[in-house]
Parts: sequence; structure tokens; C-alpha cells
Amino acid sequence: MQSYGSPLYVVSESVLRRKYAELYRAFSLRYPSIAIGYSYKTNYLSAICSILHQEGALAEVVSGFEYEIAESLGVPGNQIIFNGPLKRPAELTKAISQGARIHIDSYDELALIEEIAQKLGRTVPVAIRMNMTVGPLAWDRFGFNLEDGQAMDAAHRVISSPWLKLVGLHEHLGTFVLDPDLYRQMAEKLASFARSLIEYGVTLEYLDIGGGYASHNTLHDQWLPADYATPTFDQYADAICPTLIKNLPQPLPLLIMEPGRALVDEAVQMLTSVVSVRNMTSGQKGVVIDAGVNLLSNVAWYRYEIRAATLAGSISAGSILEEVNIYGPLCMNIDVLQHKVALPPLRAGDVLIIKNVGAYNFTQSTQFIQPRPAIVLINEGEVELIRVAENMEYIKQLDKVPQRLQYKPKQKAPRAKN
Ligand SMILES: Cc1ncc(COP(=O)(O)O)c(C=O)c1O
Repeated sequence: MQSYGSPLYVVSESVLRRKYAELYRAFSLRYPSIAIGYSYKTNYLSAICSILHQEGALAEVVSGFEYEIAESLGVPGNQIIFNGPLKRPAELTKAISQGARIHIDSYDELALIEEIAQKLGRTVPVAIRMNMTVGPLAWDRFGFNLEDGQAMDAAHRVISSPWLKLVGLHEHLGTFVLDPDLYRQMAEKLASFARSLIEYGVTLEYLDIGGGYASHNTLHDQWLPADYATPTFDQYADAICPTLIKNLPQPLPLLIMEPGRALVDEAVQMLTSVVSVRNMTSGQKGVVIDAGVNLLSNVAWYRYEIRAATLAGSISAGSILEEVNIYGPLCMNIDVLQHKVALPPLRAGDVLIIKNVGAYNFTQSTQFIQPRPAIVLINEGEVELIRVAENMEYIKQLDKVPQRLQYKPKQKAPRAKN
């Protein structure tokens, strides 16, 4: 922190590699052929994606922009899964030409892909994204609905097109899904849909079951904390794999999954310094830290675990804990990181750790009032800088000020009127 400034995101390479290995092991023990497509939007920091690609992850991208990030890291097209509701014609043309897996999100996109395939003069292998109701989950704004028959209708459109070949099905249930049984129900529905395609001569090459596995964090409305509530990868795999094996037609397709938060949340911690401590008129104590909601937008969902470190020397073992409200440094009332956190007595300069912040915070962060800080990678005691702190030159490089607006100080100061 002395070298890189405060606040600081700290990424652990070993935790990231361990999470990937645990997930891979859980599913590959129970299903003959699997692949993990890392959900880029969760955290597309280059070093993080590179580590996961070294481990063997495919790139799961949801925009042309994310596709380019994968390309810039050297990921070949056939290792990219292209999802998302907006895929521009040029982006689709490139992805098709490079052999990416294309997941169709809507009828408009289906027609667009047919048009591109016709122009390229080739048949394009595609998957359709489905959505379905499983327990309380019913995300129906992406893909084609199973229950109302749209998914089958879209499948027929693909099957009857001379320009398209149906090779896969895709379903992403939701996010932070704490109940593995919902995945079992999803697997049953997907397998039965796959079976009904046999009569149209479709043999699926792959089934993509999306992401959504919970990480070691606690939602605001969660009764039990993460230690008790977050299922293990083995529990998810137990719910999914035997159900698929029992119900899918042979030969079994490749099983792809697209985890995001369950891989990266625990690999990143935020170090942040106390700026000031104040007594509020309510009688509560407020602690202002130097990391705000512009860096930790997911405080909206999670009750993050916040711990004190001991750098400034004011914290000693055995200090009596007190409940404080933690505020960020932004001059906005919304900048609240958490209410009622039990911490030892703090003073300016003390350092706090906000735990498991790897998912969706960096990619959703903004330079609202404060620029974004540095990010370091730790690995076997070594610390490496993987993103420099933003500076004024970086922030301003895209701005343009027309000549006529350029500020010239007035020669004479205006005289005060009496
Ligand atoms: C299509 C798709 N796949 C994967 C993910 C990753 O989800 P999670 O981070 O919950 O694992 C998302 C996130 O919303 C998604 O939309």
C-alpha cells in the first residue's frame, strides 16, 4: 500500500487458480467432457483473464467490446463464446469468420445471422439461448422462452434454415443461485428439450448451462452467512451432472458452464484507509474510508465482510468492538458501504480489508469524483502491479475542448458593485 497507494485492489493468483481447479474437478469427476467459459463481464482485468486462460478457460463474452478484450489477450475465435443481446453486424461477421460459438438471443438476431451467413456463403453453427421458469427464477428477457414454445419455434427456424446449423443450447438461470436443486430442475428441462430435438435430426455438440453459482459472500436479505449458505462446487455438480447423464440423449454433448462470481469474488480483496471518524447526531459513529461506491458498487447486493488491519497501530488485540457505519469518500449521501459493522475503535490512517470483492466491482467501477486506484497481483510473496492508478492524463485523454471554449483568464478582475 505504501508503494501503490490507498485504496488498493489486491488479487491473489493462487486463490484464482484454486477456484478454477476446484470447479473443474467437481464437474469433470461427474461428467465425461466439460469446458469452463469464464464470464468476462465479471472482471475482465487482463491479468485475471490471462490466469484463467492459462488454466484452460474459454472466454465467455457478451459484447463486441469484450470480444476484442479476449482477442487482445490472444484467445482464438474458436475459444470464444459470444453471448449477449447486442451483437453488431460487423462483430458477428468477425466472430463467425473466426469460428466463435454464437448464441442467438432473439428473432432479429437470428435473421441477421442468416443474412451474414448468406453473404459469407457458408452454413453457420449456432446455439439458441433459452430461458425458463425454475422455482422463483424466471429471467425471460434474454433468449427464447421454453414454456411458451418460443424456444422450440426458434429451434425450428434454425433447423429449417439452409444457412444455420443447430449445434448447441444455452441457458443461464440467474446469478448467486444458492439452491443447487434449481440447477437440477434446469438440467431436467434442458435435457428433455434436447431429447425432443432428436426427431428433427439434431445431435447437439454442446450444452451450455451458464453461470450463477454463489460465491463466498452474503446477500443483504440472506438469513445464514456465506459460511453456511454457499454451496460447494461438488454440491452444484451433484445436482447437475447425474441429471444430465440420466436424461440426455447419447452421445452426451460437451457440457459448458460460464461461471463468473464464483471464480473471482474470493480472489480479490480491497485494502482501504480510514480518512476520519465522526460522531453522528443519531449517536452512531461514522467511519469515512477512501474507497467509495464508485469502486464497490456491489455493496448494493452484498453485506461484505469488513475487517480491521493493524497498520496505524491504534488497533490492538482484545480491543472492544463497536458498531459503526462505514461511508465512502464521495461527497454524495448515497456513498454508504455498510451500516452497523462491528470493528475495534478506529482512527484516521487505520487500514481496513473489504473481503471478496472480485466480481462485478472493477468492471462496474467509475471515476465518479475519485479516479480508480491501482490493482496488484500477489503470488507466492511477490507483488506485481497489474493496473496502474488512473491519473489526470488518462482521465482527460478522450475529452475535446473546442478552440472557442478554451479558458483564458480575464485580464482584469471584475470590480465589485456597491
Ligand atoms: C450469459 C451469462 N453467463 C454467465 C454469467 C455469469 O454469472 P455469474 O457471475 O453469476 O456466475 C452471466 C451473468 O449475468 C451471464 O449473463
